[in-house]
Amino acid sequence: MPDATQAPSFDPPGFALPGLTLGVASAATQIEGGDADTNWHRWADVPGRIADGTTPRRAADHWNRVEQDTALLGELGIGHYRMGLEWARIEPSPGHFDRTAINHYRDELTALRAAGITPLVTLHHFNNPGWFEAAGGWEARHALTVFDRYVDYVLVNLGDLVDEWITLNEPNVYATKGWVDGDWPPGVSGSIRRAQKVMQTMAAAHIRTYLTIHRAWPRAKVGVANHLRAFAPKRRWNPLDRVSARGAEYLFQTALTRAFSVGRFLAPFVQPPDIDPGHYYDFQGINYYTRSSVTGLADGVARRVPVNDLGWEIHPAGLVEVARWTHERYPGPIWITENGTPDAADAFRPLFLHDHLKAIAGSGLPIERFYHWCFTDNFEWAEGEEPRFGLVALDYPTQQRTVRESGRFYADIIANRGVTAAAYRRWVLGRHYPRNDA
Ligand code: BGC
Repeated sequence: MPDATQAPSFDPPGFALPGLTLGVASAATQIEGGDADTNWHRWADVPGRIADGTTPRRAADHWNRVEQDTALLGELGIGHYRMGLEWARIEPSPGHFDRTAINHYRDELTALRAAGITPLVTLHHFNNPGWFEAAGGWEARHALTVFDRYVDYVLVNLGDLVDEWITLNEPNVYATKGWVDGDWPPGVSGSIRRAQKVMQTMAAAHIRTYLTIHRAWPRAKVGVANHLRAFAPKRRWNPLDRVSARGAEYLFQTALTRAFSVGRFLAPFVQPPDIDPGHYYDFQGINYYTRSSVTGLADGVARRVPVNDLGWEIHPAGLVEVARWTHERYPGPIWITENGTPDAADAFRPLFLHDHLKAIAGSGLPIERFYHWCFTDNFEWAEGEEPRFGLVALDYPTQQRTVRESGRFYADIIANRGVTAAAYRRWVLGRHYPRNDA
């Protein structure tokens, strides 16, 4: 805790973060545990699909540990918490809603608010009910009206407790993994066309949800958690690589961001007849992790760069690059709705945090919020339990939570509203990133 009688010193290499509010992020399927019948539970039950053979059934057992986790947020002084809802729990069969599940979320939201923690609630984070998936999921003809029905129920039952909403998490990652790479449900490989169709439907779902929320709660803040990647040509001097990088960027994020932000659906999308161009965000939510190095149709990781436990390039300047790109096209407040790194040893996470926050501090952009991904370690989709993204380490068998040094550092940044010179010396100095030089 800082000494209240003394202003914190931000002498270099420290820096202040005026105007930036920090929080942490999570997602229902990744932390709750239990037997909810989701697309991911069904997917993980087929051997070989999750790298380490785990399923979302254990995760962080957050469903049974809400009280403990809320208390831990409070202990670390974290005042903003991004959390997800499990649609399959709320609507276990089509049109039938579970009072116990929605009341559980009411209790959680009430407890967060009582602890002075502002929730930011995600309606969809890669997680469909099993019955929705089985009926065609986001490709089904009635997908939009089925999603509307769930949204309506949530708004009636939770709307009084939530002022900030994320409609959808990363439609581009969801569609690419599920329909192009095929290693996420529904497991379709190589169909860029179907992936684009799913993104188009999800952009429409966002706009409908945006309007629905505002009709019910005019002052609510609503946006998408948009996964934006920095794209670079593998060989900077090569014109073909440069064109490929722009092309990959366009298909992955440029057209989608335009569609959901302002309702303009450019090729390969088709303008839906019931959507008018307009302004469909109260903040631009950005999830930023890494940079892609592109050549031809392949998108990979550059050589001789810093990398994390999953081999993704660590490139802090890219965060500001994508935020600036967004701001120039879709001005308004920017919320970094996810940023973090898998680092099981917690060896470089403090440096990662420092570098990304420093990039924000010097950016001159209206970045208002920053949510670290993640609060506790959790079920990392097809990678299972192995990658460790948490500020809080999780011992899965005992479910014991232990705050990592990076968690202590983050708490210190929140308390001081910046990185003090002393914090820099304690947590950052002398740390290095692993590299893929070998
Ligand atoms: C997703 C999270 C995920 C994180 C790390 C984001 O793409 O929203 O669910 O755990 O990245 O891979």
